[in-house]
Amino acid sequence: MSDVVLQIDGKEVKANQGMTLLEAARSAGIAIPTLCHHDQLEPYGGCRICIVEVTVRGWTKLVVSCVYPVERDIVVRTRSEKIDRIRKMILELLLAHAPESPELNELAKTYGANKQRFDREASFCIHCGLCVRYCAEVKRENAVGFIDRGIRKEISFIPEIAAQACPECKACFPLCPTSYLQAAYVLIEGLAFTGGDLEPASGK
Ligand code: SF4
Ligand code: FES
Repeated sequence: MSDVVLQIDGKEVKANQGMTLLEAARSAGIAIPTLCHHDQLEPYGGCRICIVEVTVRGWTKLVVSCVYPVERDIVVRTRSEKIDRIRKMILELLLAHAPESPELNELAKTYGANKQRFDREASFCIHCGLCVRYCAEVKRENAVGFIDRGIRKEISFIPEIAAQACPECKACFPLCPTSYLQAAYVLIEGLAFTGGDLEPASGK
């Protein structure tokens, strides 16, 4: 039963206690962009593209909608000049990693992001963590993980696990917003695996 009523983009939305703002918005047909969110995974809050403005008791702040819980009587705005400016900047930074990513380019059109604003980064990975978390939380394999930290952070398949688990799975391929994952997998497989079908698994 809906037990929290809040306002999102001027619309009264009924939500359940424990839902996030993103879930409440989507349940009401209000779109918020996401890059690191997946319905089957624990909230992560990594990419920040889903930020929204929330007004609580007269105070307005920016929050990450995929992790922020619904509260009674709060007022949420999913678009504003400030939100769009921040999303544009986030996209420009991410496009330096993956300028050809269809998902990023689609969002870039909406927010007027310039993919040439920043110098090209060596890594295609935008650190959304979808591959790593999906493998751990849904597949319970931990065949792929992050190595290094900060700007040097990269994904890496664990050859001993991946050689067994990945050839029949590949469920993480279609989750990657940049396609880097597939390239990395192919590379590792070329080096260490026994071969096999490299077509991505269908569906997410
Ligand atoms: S390889 Fe792709 S799915 Fe994995 S963390 Fe990087 S961008 Fe995300
Ligand atoms: S979708 Fe919310 S932080 Fe990435």
